[in-house]
This record gives sequence, C-alpha cells and structure tokens, in this order.
Amino acid sequence: MILVTGCAGFIGSNFIHTWLEGQDEGIINVDKLTYAGNLENLAAFTNDSRHHFVQGDIGDRGLIEGLLKTHQPRAVINFAAESHVDRSIHGPQDFIETNIVGTFNLLESVRTYWSGLATEHKTAFRFVHVSTDEVYGTLSPTEAAFSETNAYLPNSPYAASKAASDHLVRAWHHTYGLPVITTNCSNNYGPFHFPEKLIPLIIMNALYGKPLPIYGDGQQVRDWLYVQDHTRAIACVLQAGRIGETYNIGGWNEKANIDVVKLICSHLDLLKPRADGKPYADQITYVTDRPGHDRRYAIDARKVERELGWKPNETFETGIQKTIQWYLDHPEWVAHVTSGEYRHWVDKQYGEKANLA
Ligand code: NAD
Ligand code: DAU
Repeated sequence: MILVTGCAGFIGSNFIHTWLEGQDEGIINVDKLTYAGNLENLAAFTNDSRHHFVQGDIGDRGLIEGLLKTHQPRAVINFAAESHVDRSIHGPQDFIETNIVGTFNLLESVRTYWSGLATEHKTAFRFVHVSTDEVYGTLSPTEAAFSETNAYLPNSPYAASKAASDHLVRAWHHTYGLPVITTNCSNNYGPFHFPEKLIPLIIMNALYGKPLPIYGDGQQVRDWLYVQDHTRAIACVLQAGRIGETYNIGGWNEKANIDVVKLICSHLDLLKPRADGKPYADQITYVTDRPGHDRRYAIDARKVERELGWKPNETFETGIQKTIQWYLDHPEWVAHVTSGEYRHWVDKQYGEKANLA
C-alpha cells in the first residue's frame, strides 16, 4: 500500500479517486482536516476497505512513524500543505509551520522508516513531494515557460514556503539518499475545488448572484490543468519517475484571468440562465489587486511527456465544461462547503473512527 498526506483536500481527494478507480492497492490517508480538508470529497470510499483515513498532522512524528511501522507502505506522497496565496498574505504562520516545518518532520519520519527497511524494500521505496510552479516566480509575456532548470524566485509567503519545502526534499536525497521525486504543477481546476480559489469562486458567486471579483486588471495569466490530468501525472511519476529528479506538470493552457471568468459566464448563460435573462458577465467587478501578484505562470511540460509518456487528456474548453457541470450537479456539496456544515458531516459519518490509526 501507499501512504498519502493531505488527501481530503482538492487535489489529494481527486488523486484517491483516480487511484482507487484504477486499481486495488490500498491507501492510508493522513490529513489534519484544516478548513480545506473535507471528507465529503471521499464519500465514495466511506465503506471501502482500500481507503484508510487517519486524522493527523504531517508534523506529528509519533503518529507518522507509528503508521509507517504498522502499514509498511512502499511509497509516501505528500500533498499536505496550506495552499492559498491570499491566506498566506493575511497570515503566513500556518504556511511556515505546515509547508516548511511539517515537511521537515515528515521527511525525518520517512527517513527513520526507510533506513530500517530491508534492502529490496529500501530500493523500491519512493517519496513523492507535490509542489507548485509558483516557486519559479513570475514570467513576462514573452519569456519561455518554466522548465525544471529555472531558478527558484518565489514571491508570496505561500510560494516561499513551498520553495523551502522543495529544497528540504532535495537535500534529504543528496545528504541521506532518501529516494525522492518532486513535481511542480501549474494551476489545477475541477471537482472538489474549495471555493476560495478563482474558478470555483466565480462559478458559485455567479450562481448566488454575487459580484465576480477580478484582481487588478484581470490580465494575469495562469496555465490551467484539469485536476485528474494532474493526478494521473503523479501516478506516472510514482511508477516511473527518476529518483532525485523534478518534473514540471502543466496543461499548455495559458489564459488571462478575465478570459477565464468570461468563459465561465458564457457557459453558465447556456447551462443555467439567470432568472432576469441578463448575462452573468454583468456581475464582473474589478477589485484591488493582490499584493505582489505574479503576472504570468506557464509550464514547459516536455520532460514529463518525454520521459513518462504522460499527456493531458483535457483541453481547457473540455475541462471547464466538466467542472461547471460538476458544480451544477452537486448543490449539496456546494451548500455544505459554503456553510461549513461539512465538519458536522465528518463527525456524523466517521465519529471516533477518524482518529483510529
Ligand atoms: P488544499 O488546500 O485543497 O488541501 C490541502 C490539504 O492538506 C487539506 O486537506 C488540509 O486539511 C491538509 N493539511 C493542511 N495542513 C496539514 C498538516 N499539517 N498535516 C496534514 N494535513 C494537512 O490544497 P490542494 O489545492 O489540494 O493542493 C495540494 C498540494 O498540491 C499542495 O501541496 C499544493 O501546494 C500543491 N499544488 C496545488 C495546486 C493547485 O492549483 N491547487 C497546483 C500545484 C501544486
Ligand atoms: O500555480 C499553482 C498555484 O495555483 C498553486 O500552487 C496554489 O495552491 C493555487 O492556489 C493556485 O494559486 P493562484 O494564486 O494562481 O490561484 P487563485 O485561484 O487564488 O488565483 C488565480 C488567479 O486569479 C490569480 O491571478 C489571482 C486571481 N484572482 C483570484 C481570486 C481568488 C482574482 O482575480 N480574483 C479572485 O477572487
């Protein structure tokens, strides 16, 4: 089996869907269940013995070392993080604690476990660290997309904390020989995306008749990847990625924010027209820009495509339609997330089980 962290969040929960829909190898999922963790994302696996959920912190060495010793996983994939740039600007402390100190403690727990494995298992073991393109900083409109050899130039507290975690992972390989692989991915979107991030926020605000906030001039560019293309890429990296390497993952889908928002509005106009017949784009509102806002991200994904044969299945146009339809089809998920009621659901569904290792 494998041990994953942070998989009641957006990308991690999608990873568990991808993994368990494709095979039977079990998963231990350790998640602290911060505001971003939502076991409702994994409701499909509530009674599935292949998924074993443990509520806990990646920085809790006693817990993690106990789980590793008991379950003897062949790999650890680290998704756990504080992930929202705006929150990192308002309060960076949690980002330092989880993304840097938490990753350090996780690496030490894994190193202790891995050092004690028999040679055959030690050789086969992998630690995959899931990171972001934001570590590379920002691009001008004409600069080449980020490749794995770009310098690290993080600009937000979030990006700096992820950059620090990547450096720790790298150092644990070079110094201790831990068999690590790091992935740096562009902006994801798709099912179970928490509505603090641009795409789900716009879909939900549009449907609730609220303003659609555009930071600054709306001309910032992001390179969007459908989340299940990302989770497939991580599975490929685990299976065949080279130890000590980093892989950039992206969808070749650069879009300006304002164009993303207008596209969502035009799809909603067709799928769920406003009661007053007016276009959703009327709700677009320009607001004060994010401090230090990176202008453009773009990923050169040729290495992962060439070495591992991975390619995205979705274009932005197909992925955004699937995403909007998913939000329209899941009004209960949306209502629970927005009301915070999903926390009650955790107690109701799992109760004390959530704490059992
Ligand atoms: P998310 O915020 O939706 O989920 C993060 C999860 O980590 C939550 O379930 C949370 O409860 C858990 N967590 C937080 N602190 C923890 C701790 N100390 N111990 C255990 N669990 C903890 O984030 P996401 O968007 O799913 O991102 C997952 C990973 O992918 C992150 O490492 C992020 O940096 C990276 N990433 C995200 C994107 C994106 O577009 N969302 C793109 C590239 C990389
Ligand atoms: O690039 C990968 C990163 O993508 C991940 O590492 C992060 O975890 C993830 O949150 C995301 O970061 P961004 O800051 O790019 O995503 P966000 O959805 O917050 O914002 C996307 C763009 O939209 C960004 O340019 C800011 C802008 N924006 C965002 C919000 C929430 C707005 O214009 N209005 C908004 O209300």
